[in-house]
Amino acid sequence: MTDNKSDIPNGQDSANWRFDTRSVHGAGEMRSQYGETSEALYLTSSYVYPSPQEAEKRFKGETDGYIYSRYGNPTVSMFEERMRLLEGTEAAMATSSGMAAVNAVFMSQLSSGDHVLAAKALFGASLYLLNELLPRLGIETTLVDGGDLDAWQAGIRSNTKLVFLETPTNPTLDLIDLEKVAQVAHSVGAKLVVDNVFATPILQQPLKFGADIVLYSATKHIDGQGRCLGGIVLGTADYINGDFREYVRQTGPSLSPFNAWVMLKGLETLSLRVRQHGENAAKIADFLGEHSSIARVMYPGRSDHPHYELHKKQMGGGGPLVAFEIKGDKREAFAFMNKLSIIKICNNLGDAKSLITHPTTTTHQRLSDEERLELGITPALMRLSVGLEDVQDLIEDLEQALGAMK
Ligand SMILES: Cc1ncc(COP(=O)(O)O)c(C=O)c1O
Repeated sequence: MTDNKSDIPNGQDSANWRFDTRSVHGAGEMRSQYGETSEALYLTSSYVYPSPQEAEKRFKGETDGYIYSRYGNPTVSMFEERMRLLEGTEAAMATSSGMAAVNAVFMSQLSSGDHVLAAKALFGASLYLLNELLPRLGIETTLVDGGDLDAWQAGIRSNTKLVFLETPTNPTLDLIDLEKVAQVAHSVGAKLVVDNVFATPILQQPLKFGADIVLYSATKHIDGQGRCLGGIVLGTADYINGDFREYVRQTGPSLSPFNAWVMLKGLETLSLRVRQHGENAAKIADFLGEHSSIARVMYPGRSDHPHYELHKKQMGGGGPLVAFEIKGDKREAFAFMNKLSIIKICNNLGDAKSLITHPTTTTHQRLSDEERLELGITPALMRLSVGLEDVQDLIEDLEQALGAMK
Protein backbone atom coordinates (compact mmCIF):
# COMPACT_ATOMS: atom_id res chain seq x y z
CA MET A 1 0.00 0.00 0.00
CA THR A 2 1.43 3.35 -0.95
CA ASP A 3 -0.04 6.75 -0.38
CA ASN A 4 -0.32 7.04 -4.15
CA LYS A 5 -2.82 4.33 -4.80
CA SER A 6 -5.54 2.35 -3.09
CA ASP A 7 -4.86 -1.27 -3.96
CA ILE A 8 -7.23 -2.66 -1.36
CA PRO A 9 -7.66 -6.47 -1.56
CA ASN A 10 -10.62 -7.73 -3.60
CA GLY A 11 -10.88 -4.45 -5.52
CA GLN A 12 -11.13 -6.47 -8.71
CA ASP A 13 -14.18 -8.40 -7.53
CA SER A 14 -16.11 -5.45 -6.20
CA ALA A 15 -15.96 -3.62 -9.54
CA ASN A 16 -18.38 -6.26 -10.86
CA TRP A 17 -20.93 -5.89 -8.07
CA ARG A 18 -24.08 -3.86 -8.50
CA PHE A 19 -24.16 -0.31 -7.19
CA ASP A 20 -25.82 -0.97 -3.81
CA THR A 21 -23.41 -3.80 -3.00
CA ARG A 22 -20.44 -1.65 -3.96
CA SER A 23 -21.66 1.12 -1.69
CA VAL A 24 -21.75 -1.26 1.31
CA HIS A 25 -18.65 -3.41 0.67
CA GLY A 26 -16.88 -1.88 -2.34
CA ALA A 27 -13.20 -2.64 -1.76
CA GLY A 28 -13.32 -0.70 1.45
CA GLU A 29 -12.63 -3.40 3.92
CA MET A 30 -9.01 -3.15 4.97
CA ARG A 31 -9.55 -5.23 8.08
CA SER A 32 -6.97 -5.15 10.84
CA GLN A 33 -5.75 -8.28 12.61
CA TYR A 34 -8.88 -8.07 14.81
CA GLY A 35 -11.25 -8.76 11.89
CA GLU A 36 -13.67 -5.94 12.76
CA THR A 37 -16.95 -5.77 10.79
CA SER A 38 -17.11 -2.00 10.56
CA GLU A 39 -14.24 -0.31 8.76
CA ALA A 40 -11.37 0.56 11.10
CA LEU A 41 -10.77 4.18 11.99
CA TYR A 42 -7.02 4.74 11.71
CA LEU A 43 -6.92 7.99 13.62
CA THR A 44 -3.24 8.71 13.21
CA SER A 45 -1.26 11.54 11.71
CA SER A 46 1.87 9.48 11.06
CA TYR A 47 3.34 5.98 10.78
CA VAL A 48 6.37 4.24 12.27
CA TYR A 49 8.93 2.49 10.11
CA PRO A 50 10.68 -0.72 11.06
CA SER A 51 14.05 0.78 10.02
CA PRO A 52 15.57 3.94 8.55
CA GLN A 53 16.24 1.92 5.40
CA GLU A 54 12.50 1.31 5.04
CA ALA A 55 11.71 5.00 5.69
CA GLU A 56 14.15 5.96 2.94
CA LYS A 57 12.58 3.49 0.51
CA ARG A 58 9.05 4.74 1.23
CA PHE A 59 10.06 8.34 0.65
CA LYS A 60 11.66 7.30 -2.63
CA GLY A 61 8.45 5.42 -3.56
CA GLU A 62 10.38 2.15 -3.79
CA THR A 63 8.16 0.29 -1.31
CA ASP A 64 4.49 0.44 -0.41
CA GLY A 65 3.32 1.98 2.84
CA TYR A 66 1.91 5.13 4.37
CA ILE A 67 4.21 8.04 5.23
CA TYR A 68 2.08 10.78 6.73
CA SER A 69 -1.69 11.40 6.83
CA ARG A 70 -1.44 14.59 4.78
CA TYR A 71 -0.31 12.24 1.99
CA GLY A 72 -2.57 9.30 2.71
CA ASN A 73 -4.26 7.30 5.46
CA PRO A 74 -5.85 3.81 5.42
CA THR A 75 -9.34 5.03 6.43
CA VAL A 76 -9.19 7.82 3.86
CA SER A 77 -8.01 5.27 1.25
CA MET A 78 -11.05 3.09 2.01
CA PHE A 79 -13.36 6.05 1.40
CA GLU A 80 -11.51 7.01 -1.81
CA GLU A 81 -11.55 3.46 -3.11
CA ARG A 82 -15.25 2.98 -2.44
CA MET A 83 -16.10 6.27 -4.15
CA ARG A 84 -13.85 5.34 -7.06
CA LEU A 85 -15.78 2.11 -7.55
CA LEU A 86 -19.15 3.84 -7.26
CA GLU A 87 -18.23 6.47 -9.83
CA GLY A 88 -16.46 3.97 -12.09
CA THR A 89 -13.25 5.98 -12.35
CA GLU A 90 -9.59 5.06 -12.30
CA ALA A 91 -8.66 7.17 -9.27
CA ALA A 92 -10.01 9.36 -6.49
CA MET A 93 -8.53 11.67 -3.88
CA ALA A 94 -10.40 13.02 -0.87
CA THR A 95 -10.15 16.58 0.42
CA SER A 96 -11.10 18.36 3.63
CA SER A 97 -14.26 19.96 2.16
CA GLY A 98 -16.09 20.45 -1.11
CA MET A 99 -14.48 23.85 -1.57
CA ALA A 100 -11.04 22.33 -0.92
CA ALA A 101 -11.86 19.98 -3.81
CA VAL A 102 -12.91 22.82 -6.16
CA ASN A 103 -9.91 24.95 -5.17
CA ALA A 104 -7.45 22.06 -5.56
CA VAL A 105 -8.80 21.25 -9.04
CA PHE A 106 -8.23 24.87 -10.10
CA MET A 107 -4.91 25.47 -8.35
CA SER A 108 -3.29 22.20 -9.37
CA GLN A 109 -4.09 22.69 -13.03
CA LEU A 110 -4.01 26.39 -13.84
CA SER A 111 -1.21 28.88 -14.45
CA SER A 112 -1.16 32.58 -15.21
CA GLY A 113 -2.37 33.13 -18.79
CA ASP A 114 -4.81 30.20 -18.71
CA HIS A 115 -8.54 30.61 -19.16
CA VAL A 116 -11.48 28.96 -17.38
CA LEU A 117 -14.95 28.80 -18.89
CA ALA A 118 -17.74 28.19 -16.40
CA ALA A 119 -21.49 28.34 -15.97
CA LYS A 120 -22.80 31.40 -14.14
CA ALA A 121 -25.05 29.45 -11.83
CA LEU A 122 -22.69 28.04 -9.23
CA PHE A 123 -22.29 27.69 -5.49
CA GLY A 124 -21.34 31.12 -4.07
CA ALA A 125 -17.81 30.15 -2.97
CA SER A 126 -17.03 28.70 -6.41
CA LEU A 127 -18.12 32.03 -7.90
CA TYR A 128 -15.69 33.78 -5.51
CA LEU A 129 -12.84 31.64 -6.86
CA LEU A 130 -13.80 32.38 -10.46
CA ASN A 131 -14.67 36.05 -10.10
CA GLU A 132 -12.08 37.17 -7.58
CA LEU A 133 -9.28 34.74 -6.76
CA LEU A 134 -8.32 33.34 -10.18
CA PRO A 135 -8.26 36.76 -11.95
CA ARG A 136 -5.92 38.03 -9.20
CA LEU A 137 -3.49 35.29 -10.22
CA GLY A 138 -3.60 36.20 -13.90
CA ILE A 139 -6.09 33.47 -14.82
CA GLU A 140 -8.93 34.72 -16.99
CA THR A 141 -12.44 33.46 -16.42
CA THR A 142 -15.62 33.69 -18.48
CA LEU A 143 -19.04 32.86 -17.07
CA VAL A 144 -21.86 31.91 -19.41
CA ASP A 145 -25.50 30.96 -19.19
CA GLY A 146 -25.17 27.18 -18.79
CA GLY A 147 -28.28 26.46 -20.85
CA ASP A 148 -27.04 28.43 -23.88
CA LEU A 149 -24.87 26.17 -26.05
CA ASP A 150 -23.95 29.04 -28.37
CA ALA A 151 -22.59 30.91 -25.35
CA TRP A 152 -20.41 27.93 -24.38
CA GLN A 153 -19.17 27.76 -27.96
CA ALA A 154 -18.50 31.50 -28.08
CA GLY A 155 -16.73 31.46 -24.71
CA ILE A 156 -14.23 28.70 -25.41
CA ARG A 157 -10.69 29.78 -26.31
CA SER A 158 -7.47 28.11 -27.37
CA ASN A 159 -6.06 28.76 -23.86
CA THR A 160 -9.14 27.36 -22.03
CA LYS A 161 -7.81 24.68 -19.68
CA LEU A 162 -10.90 23.91 -17.60
CA VAL A 163 -14.63 24.07 -18.19
CA PHE A 164 -16.59 24.02 -14.93
CA LEU A 165 -20.27 23.54 -14.12
CA GLU A 166 -22.86 22.23 -11.68
CA THR A 167 -25.98 20.44 -12.85
CA PRO A 168 -28.59 20.75 -11.42
CA THR A 169 -27.51 24.28 -10.64
CA ASN A 170 -27.55 25.93 -7.25
CA PRO A 171 -30.12 27.14 -6.28
CA THR A 172 -32.52 27.26 -9.24
CA LEU A 173 -32.14 23.60 -10.30
CA ASP A 174 -31.61 24.26 -14.00
CA LEU A 175 -29.92 21.46 -15.92
CA ILE A 176 -26.94 21.72 -18.26
CA ASP A 177 -26.38 19.28 -21.12
CA LEU A 178 -23.18 17.47 -20.09
CA GLU A 179 -22.63 15.74 -23.41
CA LYS A 180 -22.81 18.95 -25.43
CA VAL A 181 -20.62 21.00 -23.08
CA ALA A 182 -18.06 18.15 -22.98
CA GLN A 183 -17.83 18.36 -26.79
CA VAL A 184 -17.16 22.10 -26.58
CA ALA A 185 -14.48 21.60 -23.90
CA HIS A 186 -12.76 18.81 -25.80
CA SER A 187 -12.68 20.82 -29.04
CA VAL A 188 -9.76 22.81 -27.54
CA GLY A 189 -8.37 20.05 -25.31
CA ALA A 190 -9.88 21.49 -22.11
CA LYS A 191 -11.10 19.25 -19.28
CA LEU A 192 -14.76 19.31 -18.25
CA VAL A 193 -15.07 19.44 -14.45
CA VAL A 194 -18.50 18.71 -12.95
CA ASP A 195 -19.56 19.54 -9.40
CA ASN A 196 -22.08 16.71 -9.02
CA VAL A 197 -23.31 17.60 -5.53
CA PHE A 198 -26.96 18.23 -6.33
CA ALA A 199 -27.37 15.02 -8.35
CA THR A 200 -25.26 12.71 -6.14
CA PRO A 201 -23.44 9.70 -7.63
CA ILE A 202 -26.75 7.83 -7.45
CA LEU A 203 -28.68 10.00 -9.92
CA GLN A 204 -26.02 11.18 -12.34
CA GLN A 205 -22.65 9.84 -13.50
CA PRO A 206 -21.10 12.74 -15.47
CA LEU A 207 -18.18 10.65 -16.78
CA LYS A 208 -20.67 8.68 -18.90
CA PHE A 209 -21.56 11.94 -20.66
CA GLY A 210 -17.98 12.97 -21.37
CA ALA A 211 -16.90 14.79 -18.20
CA ASP A 212 -13.23 14.35 -17.28
CA ILE A 213 -13.30 15.22 -13.58
CA VAL A 214 -16.13 14.84 -11.08
CA LEU A 215 -16.10 16.37 -7.63
CA TYR A 216 -18.31 16.34 -4.56
CA SER A 217 -18.84 18.15 -1.37
CA ALA A 218 -19.13 14.94 0.68
CA THR A 219 -20.52 17.20 3.41
CA LYS A 220 -23.89 16.86 1.68
CA HIS A 221 -25.61 13.56 0.81
CA ILE A 222 -22.50 11.39 1.17
CA ASP A 223 -22.35 12.14 4.89
CA GLY A 224 -26.09 12.60 4.81
CA GLN A 225 -26.61 13.52 8.43
CA GLY A 226 -24.97 16.93 8.73
CA ARG A 227 -21.95 15.80 10.76
CA CYS A 228 -18.70 16.34 8.89
CA LEU A 229 -17.09 18.39 6.15
CA GLY A 230 -15.40 16.53 3.32
CA GLY A 231 -14.80 16.49 -0.40
CA ILE A 232 -13.55 14.20 -3.13
CA VAL A 233 -12.25 14.51 -6.70
CA LEU A 234 -12.44 11.63 -9.20
CA GLY A 235 -10.87 11.16 -12.61
CA THR A 236 -8.21 9.27 -14.54
CA ALA A 237 -5.19 7.87 -12.71
CA ASP A 238 -2.96 10.22 -14.75
CA TYR A 239 -4.91 13.25 -13.61
CA ILE A 240 -5.45 12.35 -9.92
CA ASN A 241 -1.97 10.92 -9.36
CA GLY A 242 -0.22 13.74 -11.20
CA ASP A 243 -0.34 17.46 -10.38
CA PHE A 244 -3.54 17.07 -8.38
CA ARG A 245 -2.11 14.65 -5.81
CA GLU A 246 1.08 16.69 -5.59
CA TYR A 247 -0.94 19.85 -4.88
CA VAL A 248 -2.95 18.20 -2.07
CA ARG A 249 0.14 16.55 -0.56
CA GLN A 250 2.15 19.76 -0.51
CA THR A 251 -0.54 22.25 0.49
CA GLY A 252 -2.55 20.18 2.98
CA PRO A 253 -6.30 20.21 2.23
CA SER A 254 -6.40 16.54 3.26
CA LEU A 255 -9.46 14.77 4.64
CA SER A 256 -9.38 13.86 8.33
CA PRO A 257 -9.48 10.07 8.90
CA PHE A 258 -12.39 10.57 11.28
CA ASN A 259 -14.41 12.40 8.64
CA ALA A 260 -13.47 9.75 6.06
CA TRP A 261 -14.81 7.09 8.41
CA VAL A 262 -18.12 8.96 8.80
CA MET A 263 -18.37 9.32 5.01
CA LEU A 264 -17.69 5.60 4.53
CA LYS A 265 -20.56 4.76 6.85
CA GLY A 266 -22.68 7.31 4.95
CA LEU A 267 -22.00 5.53 1.66
CA GLU A 268 -23.57 2.33 3.02
CA THR A 269 -27.00 4.00 3.04
CA LEU A 270 -26.52 6.58 0.27
CA SER A 271 -28.62 4.86 -2.36
CA LEU A 272 -31.50 4.17 0.02
CA ARG A 273 -31.45 7.73 1.33
CA VAL A 274 -31.22 9.43 -2.05
CA ARG A 275 -34.14 7.39 -3.35
CA GLN A 276 -36.26 8.41 -0.34
CA HIS A 277 -35.14 12.07 -0.51
CA GLY A 278 -36.21 12.06 -4.17
CA GLU A 279 -39.61 10.44 -3.51
CA ASN A 280 -40.33 13.00 -0.80
CA ALA A 281 -39.06 15.88 -2.96
CA ALA A 282 -41.29 14.90 -5.91
CA LYS A 283 -44.39 14.86 -3.67
CA ILE A 284 -43.48 18.21 -2.11
CA ALA A 285 -42.85 19.75 -5.54
CA ASP A 286 -46.33 18.64 -6.63
CA PHE A 287 -47.91 19.97 -3.43
CA LEU A 288 -46.20 23.37 -3.82
CA GLY A 289 -46.97 23.44 -7.55
CA GLU A 290 -50.67 23.42 -6.79
CA HIS A 291 -50.67 25.84 -3.85
CA SER A 292 -52.24 29.23 -4.49
CA SER A 293 -49.52 31.10 -2.48
CA ILE A 294 -46.69 29.67 -4.60
CA ALA A 295 -45.72 31.51 -7.77
CA ARG A 296 -43.32 28.96 -9.27
CA VAL A 297 -41.83 25.56 -8.49
CA MET A 298 -38.52 24.39 -9.93
CA TYR A 299 -38.07 20.61 -9.81
CA PRO A 300 -36.33 18.74 -12.66
CA GLY A 301 -38.66 15.73 -12.29
CA ARG A 302 -41.79 17.77 -13.04
CA SER A 303 -43.00 18.00 -16.61
CA ASP A 304 -43.29 21.82 -16.28
CA HIS A 305 -39.53 22.11 -15.65
CA PRO A 306 -37.80 23.67 -18.68
CA HIS A 307 -35.20 20.88 -18.74
CA TYR A 308 -37.51 17.96 -18.03
CA GLU A 309 -36.42 16.09 -21.21
CA LEU A 310 -32.74 16.57 -20.38
CA HIS A 311 -33.36 15.24 -16.87
CA LYS A 312 -34.68 12.04 -18.45
CA LYS A 313 -31.51 11.73 -20.53
CA GLN A 314 -28.85 12.41 -17.89
CA MET A 315 -30.41 12.04 -14.42
CA GLY A 316 -31.97 9.00 -12.80
CA GLY A 317 -34.66 11.04 -11.04
CA GLY A 318 -35.70 14.55 -10.12
CA GLY A 319 -33.32 14.74 -7.17
CA PRO A 320 -33.47 15.65 -3.50
CA LEU A 321 -33.93 19.44 -3.79
CA VAL A 322 -36.87 21.65 -4.65
CA ALA A 323 -36.70 25.39 -5.36
CA PHE A 324 -39.75 27.62 -5.32
CA GLU A 325 -40.91 31.22 -5.28
CA ILE A 326 -43.58 32.40 -2.94
CA LYS A 327 -46.04 35.02 -4.17
CA GLY A 328 -44.55 38.22 -2.81
CA ASP A 329 -41.05 39.22 -1.88
CA LYS A 330 -38.39 38.83 0.81
CA ARG A 331 -40.94 39.81 3.47
CA GLU A 332 -43.32 36.98 2.52
CA ALA A 333 -40.44 34.51 2.17
CA PHE A 334 -39.15 35.36 5.68
CA ALA A 335 -42.66 35.28 7.19
CA PHE A 336 -43.23 31.82 5.69
CA MET A 337 -39.86 30.49 6.88
CA ASN A 338 -40.53 31.81 10.38
CA LYS A 339 -43.74 29.77 10.55
CA LEU A 340 -42.09 26.45 9.66
CA SER A 341 -41.74 23.97 12.45
CA ILE A 342 -40.26 20.64 11.27
CA ILE A 343 -38.36 22.17 8.35
CA LYS A 344 -35.32 23.98 9.72
CA ILE A 345 -33.71 27.18 8.41
CA CYS A 346 -30.20 26.19 7.33
CA ASN A 347 -27.98 26.78 4.30
CA ASN A 348 -26.67 23.19 4.29
CA LEU A 349 -28.28 20.46 2.20
CA GLY A 350 -28.32 16.70 1.91
CA ASP A 351 -29.26 16.09 5.54
CA ALA A 352 -31.82 13.63 6.94
CA LYS A 353 -33.48 16.76 8.30
CA SER A 354 -35.35 18.99 5.84
CA LEU A 355 -33.51 22.30 5.49
CA ILE A 356 -34.68 25.51 3.85
CA THR A 357 -32.61 28.50 2.80
CA HIS A 358 -33.17 31.94 1.29
CA PRO A 359 -30.32 32.22 -1.26
CA THR A 360 -30.61 36.02 -1.77
CA THR A 361 -29.66 36.72 1.84
CA THR A 362 -27.36 33.74 2.50
CA THR A 363 -25.43 31.65 -0.05
CA HIS A 364 -25.68 34.26 -2.83
CA GLN A 365 -25.65 37.48 -0.79
CA ARG A 366 -22.20 38.46 -2.12
CA LEU A 367 -23.66 38.94 -5.62
CA SER A 368 -25.20 42.21 -6.76
CA ASP A 369 -28.98 42.43 -7.24
CA GLU A 370 -28.45 42.39 -11.02
CA GLU A 371 -26.20 39.33 -10.89
CA ARG A 372 -28.72 37.47 -8.75
CA LEU A 373 -31.63 38.34 -11.01
CA GLU A 374 -29.64 37.18 -14.03
CA LEU A 375 -29.37 33.80 -12.28
CA GLY A 376 -33.08 33.72 -11.49
CA ILE A 377 -32.43 34.25 -7.76
CA THR A 378 -35.25 36.55 -6.71
CA PRO A 379 -36.03 37.67 -3.11
CA ALA A 380 -39.07 35.35 -3.24
CA LEU A 381 -36.94 32.26 -3.99
CA MET A 382 -36.25 29.53 -1.45
CA ARG A 383 -34.36 26.26 -1.76
CA LEU A 384 -35.60 23.25 0.15
CA SER A 385 -33.33 20.28 0.79
CA VAL A 386 -35.92 17.62 1.39
CA GLY A 387 -35.14 15.29 4.28
CA LEU A 388 -36.14 11.80 5.33
CA GLU A 389 -39.07 12.69 7.58
CA ASP A 390 -42.54 11.34 6.74
CA VAL A 391 -43.46 13.35 3.67
CA GLN A 392 -47.00 13.90 4.94
CA ASP A 393 -45.62 15.70 8.02
CA LEU A 394 -43.46 17.86 5.75
CA ILE A 395 -46.43 18.74 3.55
CA GLU A 396 -48.50 19.60 6.61
CA ASP A 397 -45.67 21.80 7.90
CA LEU A 398 -45.50 23.67 4.58
CA GLU A 399 -49.28 23.91 4.44
CA GLN A 400 -49.64 25.38 7.94
CA ALA A 401 -46.81 27.89 7.32
CA LEU A 402 -48.37 29.02 4.03
CA GLY A 403 -51.81 29.16 5.65
CA ALA A 404 -50.56 31.16 8.65
CA MET A 405 -49.37 33.94 6.36
CA LYS A 406 -52.80 34.81 5.05
C1 LIG B 1 -22.89 22.67 -5.16
C2 LIG B 1 -21.89 22.85 -4.05
N1 LIG B 1 -20.58 22.75 -4.34
C3 LIG B 1 -19.64 22.90 -3.38
C4 LIG B 1 -19.99 23.19 -2.08
C5 LIG B 1 -18.91 23.36 -1.05
O1 LIG B 1 -18.84 22.29 -0.18
P1 LIG B 1 -18.24 22.39 1.30
O2 LIG B 1 -19.18 23.19 2.11
O3 LIG B 1 -18.12 20.96 1.73
O4 LIG B 1 -16.91 23.07 1.19
C6 LIG B 1 -21.33 23.29 -1.73
C7 LIG B 1 -21.69 23.60 -0.34
O5 LIG B 1 -22.75 23.95 0.03
C8 LIG B 1 -22.32 23.13 -2.75
O6 LIG B 1 -23.62 23.23 -2.47
